[in-house]
Amino acid sequence: MPTLMPTQMKNIPTQSINKQAVAESFSKAAKHYDHFAQLQRDVGDQLLNMVIKDESHSFAINDIVDLGCGTGYFTEKLSSHFCHSNITCFDLSATMLDQVKKRHINNVTFQQGDIDNLPFHENSLDLIYSNLVVQWSDNLEVCLQQVHKSLKAEGRCYFSTLLNGTLDELTQAWKQVDQNPHTNSFLSLKHIKETLAKVPFSQVNITTERRVLYYENVIEVMRALKGVGANHVHGHHSLQRLGRQILKQLQAGYQPFIDEQGRLKLTYQVCYIEATK
Ligand SMILES: C[S@@+](CC[C@H](N)C(=O)[O-])C[C@H]1O[C@@H](n2cnc3c(N)ncnc32)[C@H](O)[C@@H]1O
Repeated sequence: MPTLMPTQMKNIPTQSINKQAVAESFSKAAKHYDHFAQLQRDVGDQLLNMVIKDESHSFAINDIVDLGCGTGYFTEKLSSHFCHSNITCFDLSATMLDQVKKRHINNVTFQQGDIDNLPFHENSLDLIYSNLVVQWSDNLEVCLQQVHKSLKAEGRCYFSTLLNGTLDELTQAWKQVDQNPHTNSFLSLKHIKETLAKVPFSQVNITTERRVLYYENVIEVMRALKGVGANHVHGHHSLQRLGRQILKQLQAGYQPFIDEQGRLKLTYQVCYIEATK
């Protein structure tokens, strides 16, 4: 059975998260994304290890989706591990999908779309892998209900996402500059657990970890976020150009979060979810 419904999404719906703007940020970053994406690779590798540990004994993984596949770094790994499976690369950004195409991975198809409006047939997927994407969902419950529907009986999904506390140092530092939002907010673990409880998964495992990245100065911090396309701030039209004065104020605001070696800390609270239908 084909995994995609015949009426594939043509337009990206505009909801309270401006999906078009999110897509543009990621598209702008697509070409150089891999250069900046060490955290995403580390988290994704951990998520992939969970998949391999659980699924290597299974012979019946036919249909896989890499949800929010980005440049396809993990699609390629999934394809070499599950070499007889069909993998759909799914992403909001057409430019990201173009990057995946350059990898010439076997057995993949491409689908541009939105995690809040999944185009997959009911009961059509064995495995959904999604590394650091669902934090861009407008409504996690809607997204997860669709994920659940798309999975076959006993199909599994593996997600990583970010929790509140992520980018806290930068959020605090910006508060010393002005009162505008400069970072997005992230869901709490409690909210994620409550949301998962509303979706009829038969089994759910959640683990969390804190990762801290270190930078030389605020320019590097901002460059790193822009480099992976994660610089779109919801409800904020365009990012102001950061003049010298603002950067100076931001660096001053960052003072409480500088370690003994003079490095700027940036925290990521990561959540890993394995759920079985
Ligand atoms: C942080 S990147 C992760 C990419 C890839 N999973 C990885 O680990 O390298 C997030 C990806 O999610 C995609 N994305 C963001 N919002 C999305 C949405 N609403 N629907 C589908 N994809 C989305 C972005 O275009 C981007 O490629």
